[in-house]
Amino acid sequence: MRIITTIPEAQSLPRSNRLVVVPTMGALHKAHAELIRVARKHAGRDGEVAVSIFVNPLQFEPGSDYERYPRSEKADEEFCRKAGIDFLFRPSAAEMYADDRSVFVDESFLSNVLEGKSRPGHFRGVCTVVAKLFNILAADAAVFGEKDFQQLAIVRRMVRDLNFKVEIIGVPTVREEDGLACSSRNQYLNLEERKEAAVLYKALRAAVNGGKKSAADVVAVARKVIAEAPLARIDYVELVSAETLRPIQMAGPNSVLVLAVFFGKTRLIDNICLR
Ligand code: PAF
Repeated sequence: MRIITTIPEAQSLPRSNRLVVVPTMGALHKAHAELIRVARKHAGRDGEVAVSIFVNPLQFEPGSDYERYPRSEKADEEFCRKAGIDFLFRPSAAEMYADDRSVFVDESFLSNVLEGKSRPGHFRGVCTVVAKLFNILAADAAVFGEKDFQQLAIVRRMVRDLNFKVEIIGVPTVREEDGLACSSRNQYLNLEERKEAAVLYKALRAAVNGGKKSAADVVAVARKVIAEAPLARIDYVELVSAETLRPIQMAGPNSVLVLAVFFGKTRLIDNICLR
Protein backbone atom coordinates (compact mmCIF):
# COMPACT_ATOMS: atom_id res chain seq x y z
CA MET A 1 0.00 0.00 0.00
CA ARG A 2 1.40 3.37 -0.96
CA ILE A 3 0.55 6.38 1.22
CA ILE A 4 0.22 9.67 -0.62
CA THR A 5 -0.20 13.02 1.12
CA THR A 6 0.36 15.58 -1.62
CA ILE A 7 -1.57 16.41 -4.76
CA PRO A 8 1.49 16.50 -7.08
CA GLU A 9 2.44 13.01 -5.89
CA ALA A 10 -1.09 11.71 -6.52
CA GLN A 11 -1.13 13.30 -9.96
CA SER A 12 2.20 11.84 -10.97
CA LEU A 13 1.37 8.22 -10.17
CA PRO A 14 2.05 6.02 -13.18
CA ARG A 15 -1.42 4.89 -14.22
CA SER A 16 -2.58 2.47 -16.85
CA ASN A 17 -5.14 0.48 -14.88
CA ARG A 18 -8.70 1.21 -13.87
CA LEU A 19 -8.75 3.06 -10.54
CA VAL A 20 -11.70 2.74 -8.20
CA VAL A 21 -11.77 5.32 -5.41
CA VAL A 22 -13.40 5.01 -1.99
CA PRO A 23 -13.77 8.56 -0.59
CA THR A 24 -13.93 8.59 3.23
CA MET A 25 -13.40 10.83 6.20
CA GLY A 26 -11.57 8.09 8.09
CA ALA A 27 -12.58 6.47 11.42
CA LEU A 28 -12.93 3.39 9.26
CA HIS A 29 -15.32 0.60 10.25
CA LYS A 30 -16.99 -2.43 8.74
CA ALA A 31 -19.12 -0.43 6.30
CA HIS A 32 -15.89 0.96 4.82
CA ALA A 33 -14.56 -2.60 4.56
CA GLU A 34 -17.61 -3.39 2.45
CA LEU A 35 -17.04 -0.30 0.25
CA ILE A 36 -13.45 -1.44 -0.28
CA ARG A 37 -14.58 -4.99 -1.08
CA VAL A 38 -17.01 -3.67 -3.72
CA ALA A 39 -14.35 -1.31 -5.08
CA ARG A 40 -11.94 -4.22 -5.49
CA LYS A 41 -14.59 -6.24 -7.31
CA HIS A 42 -15.27 -3.35 -9.69
CA ALA A 43 -11.57 -2.67 -10.22
CA GLY A 44 -11.22 -6.10 -11.78
CA ARG A 45 -8.14 -8.25 -11.85
CA ASP A 46 -5.75 -5.58 -13.08
CA GLY A 47 -7.45 -2.58 -11.54
CA GLU A 48 -6.43 -0.64 -8.43
CA VAL A 49 -8.23 0.63 -5.36
CA ALA A 50 -7.53 3.94 -3.65
CA VAL A 51 -9.03 5.08 -0.35
CA SER A 52 -9.02 8.78 0.44
CA ILE A 53 -9.14 9.93 4.05
CA PHE A 54 -9.90 13.59 4.49
CA VAL A 55 -12.07 15.22 7.13
CA ASN A 56 -13.39 17.90 4.84
CA PRO A 57 -13.85 21.19 6.72
CA LEU A 58 -16.01 22.58 3.93
CA GLN A 59 -18.88 20.16 4.59
CA PHE A 60 -19.19 20.90 8.32
CA GLU A 61 -21.54 23.76 9.10
CA PRO A 62 -20.32 26.31 11.67
CA GLY A 63 -20.75 24.99 15.20
CA SER A 64 -21.01 21.35 14.12
CA ASP A 65 -18.66 18.47 14.96
CA TYR A 66 -15.63 19.23 12.71
CA GLU A 67 -13.22 19.57 15.64
CA ARG A 68 -14.47 16.50 17.49
CA TYR A 69 -14.98 14.31 14.39
CA PRO A 70 -13.11 11.06 15.16
CA ARG A 71 -9.58 10.96 13.72
CA SER A 72 -7.69 7.70 14.02
CA GLU A 73 -4.73 7.92 11.67
CA LYS A 74 -2.78 4.87 12.77
CA ALA A 75 -5.80 2.55 13.10
CA ASP A 76 -7.10 3.70 9.70
CA GLU A 77 -3.73 3.06 8.08
CA GLU A 78 -3.68 -0.45 9.53
CA PHE A 79 -7.28 -0.99 8.42
CA CYS A 80 -6.40 -0.04 4.83
CA ARG A 81 -3.31 -2.20 4.85
CA LYS A 82 -5.33 -5.21 5.99
CA ALA A 83 -8.04 -4.48 3.44
CA GLY A 84 -5.38 -4.75 0.75
CA ILE A 85 -5.85 -1.40 -0.99
CA ASP A 86 -3.26 -0.04 -3.39
CA PHE A 87 -3.20 3.68 -2.48
CA LEU A 88 -4.11 5.66 0.59
CA PHE A 89 -4.54 9.34 -0.20
CA ARG A 90 -4.42 11.34 3.02
CA PRO A 91 -3.91 15.05 2.36
CA SER A 92 -3.98 17.87 4.92
CA ALA A 93 -6.58 20.65 4.76
CA ALA A 94 -3.84 23.08 3.63
CA GLU A 95 -2.95 20.71 0.79
CA MET A 96 -6.56 20.53 -0.37
CA TYR A 97 -7.66 24.15 -0.03
CA ALA A 98 -5.90 27.37 -0.88
CA ASP A 99 -6.62 30.17 1.61
CA ASP A 100 -8.05 32.30 -1.19
CA ARG A 101 -10.10 29.51 -2.82
CA SER A 102 -13.05 30.91 -4.73
CA VAL A 103 -14.47 28.05 -6.79
CA PHE A 104 -17.04 25.63 -5.37
CA VAL A 105 -19.37 23.02 -6.80
CA ASP A 106 -22.96 23.82 -5.96
CA GLU A 107 -25.74 21.38 -6.79
CA SER A 108 -28.87 23.47 -6.56
CA PHE A 109 -31.92 21.20 -6.58
CA LEU A 110 -31.43 17.96 -4.65
CA SER A 111 -29.31 19.79 -2.07
CA ASN A 112 -32.07 22.11 -0.88
CA VAL A 113 -34.10 19.55 1.06
CA LEU A 114 -33.66 17.05 3.94
CA GLU A 115 -29.98 17.12 5.02
CA GLY A 116 -29.42 20.28 2.99
CA LYS A 117 -32.12 22.09 4.94
CA SER A 118 -30.79 20.95 8.32
CA ARG A 119 -27.14 21.41 7.34
CA PRO A 120 -26.80 24.49 5.10
CA GLY A 121 -23.68 24.38 2.91
CA HIS A 122 -23.05 20.70 3.62
CA PHE A 123 -23.54 19.42 0.08
CA ARG A 124 -21.61 22.30 -1.43
CA GLY A 125 -18.69 21.06 0.66
CA VAL A 126 -19.30 17.44 -0.31
CA CYS A 127 -19.57 18.17 -4.05
CA THR A 128 -16.50 20.41 -4.01
CA VAL A 129 -14.30 17.86 -2.27
CA VAL A 130 -15.61 14.89 -4.27
CA ALA A 131 -15.00 16.75 -7.55
CA LYS A 132 -11.48 17.59 -6.38
CA LEU A 133 -10.80 13.98 -5.37
CA PHE A 134 -12.02 12.72 -8.75
CA ASN A 135 -9.67 15.14 -10.49
CA ILE A 136 -6.67 14.61 -8.23
CA LEU A 137 -6.84 10.84 -8.36
CA ALA A 138 -8.14 10.59 -11.95
CA ALA A 139 -10.78 8.17 -10.72
CA ASP A 140 -12.45 5.83 -13.20
CA ALA A 141 -15.07 4.84 -10.66
CA ALA A 142 -16.00 5.68 -7.09
CA VAL A 143 -17.94 3.86 -4.41
CA PHE A 144 -20.43 5.46 -1.98
CA GLY A 145 -22.69 3.99 0.70
CA GLU A 146 -26.46 4.10 0.28
CA LYS A 147 -26.85 5.11 3.93
CA ASP A 148 -26.10 8.64 2.73
CA PHE A 149 -28.86 8.38 0.18
CA GLN A 150 -29.06 12.08 -0.58
CA GLN A 151 -25.28 12.39 -0.91
CA LEU A 152 -25.24 9.53 -3.41
CA ALA A 153 -28.06 11.11 -5.46
CA ILE A 154 -26.27 14.46 -5.48
CA VAL A 155 -22.91 12.98 -6.48
CA ARG A 156 -24.64 11.13 -9.34
CA ARG A 157 -26.27 14.41 -10.41
CA MET A 158 -22.95 16.26 -10.27
CA VAL A 159 -21.29 13.58 -12.38
CA ARG A 160 -24.13 13.73 -14.91
CA ASP A 161 -24.36 17.50 -15.11
CA LEU A 162 -20.61 18.19 -15.17
CA ASN A 163 -19.78 15.20 -17.40
CA PHE A 164 -17.27 13.56 -15.13
CA LYS A 165 -16.11 10.30 -16.68
CA VAL A 166 -16.47 8.50 -13.37
CA GLU A 167 -18.75 5.54 -12.74
CA ILE A 168 -20.63 5.92 -9.45
CA ILE A 169 -21.31 2.71 -7.57
CA GLY A 170 -23.81 2.62 -4.70
CA VAL A 171 -23.37 0.04 -1.93
CA PRO A 172 -26.24 -1.14 0.30
CA THR A 173 -26.12 0.02 3.91
CA VAL A 174 -24.10 -2.13 6.27
CA ARG A 175 -25.75 -2.61 9.66
CA GLU A 176 -24.81 -3.68 13.17
CA GLU A 177 -26.49 -6.81 14.52
CA ASP A 178 -29.38 -4.82 15.97
CA GLY A 179 -29.95 -3.02 12.66
CA LEU A 180 -28.26 0.30 13.41
CA ALA A 181 -26.59 1.57 10.24
CA CYS A 182 -22.80 1.63 10.65
CA SER A 183 -21.52 5.18 10.91
CA SER A 184 -18.40 6.83 12.31
CA ARG A 185 -20.73 9.02 14.38
CA ASN A 186 -22.13 5.98 16.26
CA GLN A 187 -19.09 6.21 18.52
CA TYR A 188 -20.42 9.49 19.95
CA LEU A 189 -23.40 7.63 21.44
CA ASN A 190 -23.32 6.72 25.13
CA LEU A 191 -24.48 3.23 26.13
CA GLU A 192 -28.11 4.21 26.62
CA GLU A 193 -28.27 6.20 23.38
CA ARG A 194 -26.57 3.39 21.48
CA LYS A 195 -29.14 0.88 22.77
CA GLU A 196 -32.05 3.11 21.82
CA ALA A 197 -30.63 3.97 18.38
CA ALA A 198 -31.60 0.50 17.16
CA VAL A 199 -35.14 1.88 17.05
CA LEU A 200 -34.35 3.62 13.76
CA TYR A 201 -34.08 0.48 11.68
CA LYS A 202 -36.99 -1.02 13.60
CA ALA A 203 -39.06 2.02 12.56
CA LEU A 204 -38.00 1.74 8.92
CA ARG A 205 -38.84 -1.99 8.85
CA ALA A 206 -42.19 -1.40 10.51
CA ALA A 207 -43.04 1.25 7.93
CA VAL A 208 -42.15 -1.10 5.08
CA ASN A 209 -43.96 -4.08 6.55
CA GLY A 210 -47.00 -2.16 7.81
CA GLY A 211 -48.80 -2.51 4.48
CA LYS A 212 -49.63 1.22 4.41
CA LYS A 213 -49.46 3.12 1.15
CA SER A 214 -50.21 6.75 1.90
CA ALA A 215 -47.17 8.79 2.91
CA ALA A 216 -48.95 10.10 6.00
CA ASP A 217 -49.63 6.54 7.22
CA VAL A 218 -46.14 5.27 6.41
CA VAL A 219 -44.54 8.18 8.26
CA ALA A 220 -46.96 7.77 11.20
CA VAL A 221 -45.94 4.10 11.59
CA ALA A 222 -42.24 5.05 11.68
CA ARG A 223 -42.80 7.95 14.09
CA LYS A 224 -44.80 5.74 16.45
CA VAL A 225 -41.93 3.22 16.68
CA ILE A 226 -39.34 5.98 17.19
CA ALA A 227 -41.50 7.39 20.00
CA GLU A 228 -40.77 4.16 21.93
CA ALA A 229 -37.23 5.51 22.46
CA PRO A 230 -37.38 8.32 25.04
CA LEU A 231 -33.97 9.70 24.04
CA ALA A 232 -34.84 10.04 20.34
CA ARG A 233 -35.58 13.53 19.00
CA ILE A 234 -36.81 13.51 15.41
CA ASP A 235 -35.38 16.02 12.96
CA TYR A 236 -37.36 14.64 10.01
CA VAL A 237 -39.11 11.49 8.83
CA GLU A 238 -40.30 11.81 5.23
CA LEU A 239 -41.44 9.68 2.35
CA VAL A 240 -39.79 11.11 -0.75
CA SER A 241 -39.26 10.35 -4.41
CA ALA A 242 -35.89 8.63 -4.91
CA GLU A 243 -35.37 10.83 -7.97
CA THR A 244 -36.38 14.30 -6.83
CA LEU A 245 -36.09 13.80 -3.04
CA ARG A 246 -39.36 15.76 -2.79
CA PRO A 247 -42.26 14.44 -0.67
CA ILE A 248 -44.65 12.09 -2.44
CA GLN A 249 -48.18 11.16 -1.49
CA MET A 250 -48.08 7.40 -1.99
CA ALA A 251 -45.43 4.72 -1.44
CA GLY A 252 -44.40 3.15 -4.74
CA PRO A 253 -41.47 1.55 -6.55
CA ASN A 254 -39.53 4.79 -6.56
CA SER A 255 -40.09 5.97 -3.03
CA VAL A 256 -37.73 6.06 -0.11
CA LEU A 257 -38.41 6.68 3.54
CA VAL A 258 -35.67 8.89 4.97
CA LEU A 259 -35.08 9.98 8.52
CA ALA A 260 -32.75 12.00 10.71
CA VAL A 261 -32.98 11.61 14.45
CA PHE A 262 -30.94 13.02 17.33
CA PHE A 263 -29.82 10.95 20.28
CA GLY A 264 -28.34 13.53 22.61
CA LYS A 265 -26.09 15.69 20.44
CA THR A 266 -25.59 12.94 17.86
CA ARG A 267 -27.64 13.15 14.70
CA LEU A 268 -28.13 9.85 12.86
CA ILE A 269 -29.60 9.31 9.41
CA ASP A 270 -31.00 6.23 7.74
CA ASN A 271 -33.35 5.27 4.92
CA ILE A 272 -35.18 2.40 3.33
CA CYS A 273 -36.68 1.94 -0.12
CA LEU A 274 -40.39 1.13 -0.30
CA ARG A 275 -41.87 -0.95 -3.10
O1 PAF B 1 -19.52 10.27 3.13
C1 PAF B 1 -18.43 10.77 3.48
O2 PAF B 1 -17.66 10.20 4.25
C2 PAF B 1 -18.05 12.16 2.95
O3 PAF B 1 -19.17 12.96 2.79
C3 PAF B 1 -17.22 12.09 1.66
C4 PAF B 1 -18.00 11.49 0.52
C5 PAF B 1 -15.94 11.31 1.91
C6 PAF B 1 -16.81 13.52 1.24
O4 PAF B 1 -16.06 14.15 2.21
